[in-house]
Amino acid sequence: MGNSVELSAPKDLTLPANPGFTQLESNMAEEPKFYHPDPSVVEYATVKEYDALYQRSITDREGFWAEQAEALDWYKKWDRVLDDSNKPFFKWFTGAKTNIVQNAIDRHLVTRNRNKLAIIWEGEPGDVHSYSYHALNREVSRFANILKAMGVKKGEIVTLYMPQLPELVFGMLACAKIGAAHSVVYGGFSADALRDRINDAQSRVVITADGGYRRGKPVDLKSIANEALKHCPTVEVCICVQRTGQPVYMENDRDYWYHDLYKLPVASPKCETEPMDAEDMLFLLYTSGSTGKPKGLVHTHGGYQVYASTTHKMVFDIKPEDRYWCAADPGWITGHSYIVYGPLINGTTLILYEGAPNHPYPNRWWSMIEKYGINILYTSPTAVRGLMRFGESWPAKHDLSSLRLLGSVGEPINPEAWRWYHRVIGGGRCPIMDTWWQTETGGFMITPLPITPLKPGSATKPFFGNECAVVDDHGKEVGPGEEGSLVIKNPWPGMARTVYKDPDRYQETYWSRYAAQGWYTVGDSAKRDEDGYFWIIGRIDDVIKVSGYRLGTAEIESALVGHPAVSEAAAIALPHELKGNAIHCYVILRANQSPSEDLAESLKNQVADHLGKIARPDGIVFVDSLPKTRSGKIMRRVLKARALGQDEGDLSTLEE
Ligand code: WT7
Repeated sequence: MGNSVELSAPKDLTLPANPGFTQLESNMAEEPKFYHPDPSVVEYATVKEYDALYQRSITDREGFWAEQAEALDWYKKWDRVLDDSNKPFFKWFTGAKTNIVQNAIDRHLVTRNRNKLAIIWEGEPGDVHSYSYHALNREVSRFANILKAMGVKKGEIVTLYMPQLPELVFGMLACAKIGAAHSVVYGGFSADALRDRINDAQSRVVITADGGYRRGKPVDLKSIANEALKHCPTVEVCICVQRTGQPVYMENDRDYWYHDLYKLPVASPKCETEPMDAEDMLFLLYTSGSTGKPKGLVHTHGGYQVYASTTHKMVFDIKPEDRYWCAADPGWITGHSYIVYGPLINGTTLILYEGAPNHPYPNRWWSMIEKYGINILYTSPTAVRGLMRFGESWPAKHDLSSLRLLGSVGEPINPEAWRWYHRVIGGGRCPIMDTWWQTETGGFMITPLPITPLKPGSATKPFFGNECAVVDDHGKEVGPGEEGSLVIKNPWPGMARTVYKDPDRYQETYWSRYAAQGWYTVGDSAKRDEDGYFWIIGRIDDVIKVSGYRLGTAEIESALVGHPAVSEAAAIALPHELKGNAIHCYVILRANQSPSEDLAESLKNQVADHLGKIARPDGIVFVDSLPKTRSGKIMRRVLKARALGQDEGDLSTLEE
């Protein structure tokens, strides 16, 4: 989910011979049933008990959310908390007028937060910029005025394709401020992926950068954007932020340097925030599903601001003096909700870091925690495993005693990595908030609070207001320890409102399977144990999680079939020590083609070029046929069972 630890060590380092992840879990016998929070954590925590507040939040859901919403500023309060008259197209805080920027910036300008640091940004080469809330407001207002001068109107969608620069955050907030929606495309995506997302959103304005630093080298972003823009007829303006200074092609009458625009009188640091309806679109975020076409999930100003800020405040027990670091990329939902919006609404000082966790050495993160006195670190299991591999000596050289809470997101965290994170990084005293949620949910759904007794690998219990269950095909709850499909039984303010331009797909994907009960289908399999704790197992749809990144088998397969040598392809996920899952592909070649190492390499490159490096398959297997159902659907589960030497299960629908 954006914590891409590059998985190779710097050349001058040798890896420990026995990476922690594969060590036998020798201390299993001593594993306590629960990891209870340190008394100091409980004493400090704002939310001191779960059960009673949870009960209240379920019996009076609207009352609970109204109370949370009261803590924010609104230009006009709501008429109704929840409008469920057109299920599953729920609406929240209808009739209210607000703008998320009113809460993320404006309201801080009249309090002590005004001169408090909002953002501390560190570039990979070591350059640092920090912005108070006052300074943030000036930067966002200037950007907003530039967008207005470029003709950006309320309701239009601006696409951002950026490295992890402060300007990415400014750009997002600038769009929101003037009532435009943003669509952030992760900077690791390819030209094709960018093109498809710009075209779906019909963006007229694109914001990008010349590049950013990653592992000591400038990454070239502008030429990828240039490639994409060749096929984006709606784009009239491309604003380019200069970061690396590398030579880039700028198209006349389309491309503008941000620093040039910034100098114009029009880029004034004063700009009114546009009052929006609570249900107006704040952003679109594309994510992979089970068809080849990525879905643009729609989030809105009102409900989302309440959900992102409440979950952030309660789960990370945010205090005014905290320095909080979510080490994701702002380009993912984790970055939207828990780098940008949740933390800024809560007036938090947040850390943003441009580059790789192991550059120039694997202590980069630990040295940053020490340097800035960070209290809360939120990252992914993949990043933990990646850094764990370098051994304990790197973190041991740093004073990590400022840490109070840790977080994990993106995929299930294996107990070995959990214990390492807890013991080595958290000094045994910092609880790990294993937050389960999705792009679709806008914020945490199943998560501990700092006071929750923890079990390594379990996301524990539903957040306030949510009723979750593990059910069978008929919607009957399965017994403790049994695997089933995870569902959410209620609406919540942070939920995606629809799939952009495709409400039928929204209804079909999330609400059709248990339509009779009116439940939201998550797409994950899970178990619930005898203590009511949830354990997420993995995706049950055609989605693969690689290092926490979400990819669709259909996207990978269509990239392969786009290669002239390939006639058919199937992609599956196989377990991987560091990445959680790795992509393996089965390929049928065209008649005149023959398998070779070179061809396998070029097929891997084909996928990486089409989707982005993260999607590069680990394995390509050339086959003569693929297992299919009689209706012609590839049975990926059969391929997976075969690859793992497991029982192939029910083969009654197999074609031959
Ligand atoms: C899928 C959603 C939510 C931000 C990043 C991912 C998996 C997410 C956890 C967790 C086990 C997790 C699920 C989910 N997932 N968090 N704590 N434990 N699995 O967002 O890309 O929309 O992916 O990520 O499979 O459905 P996303």
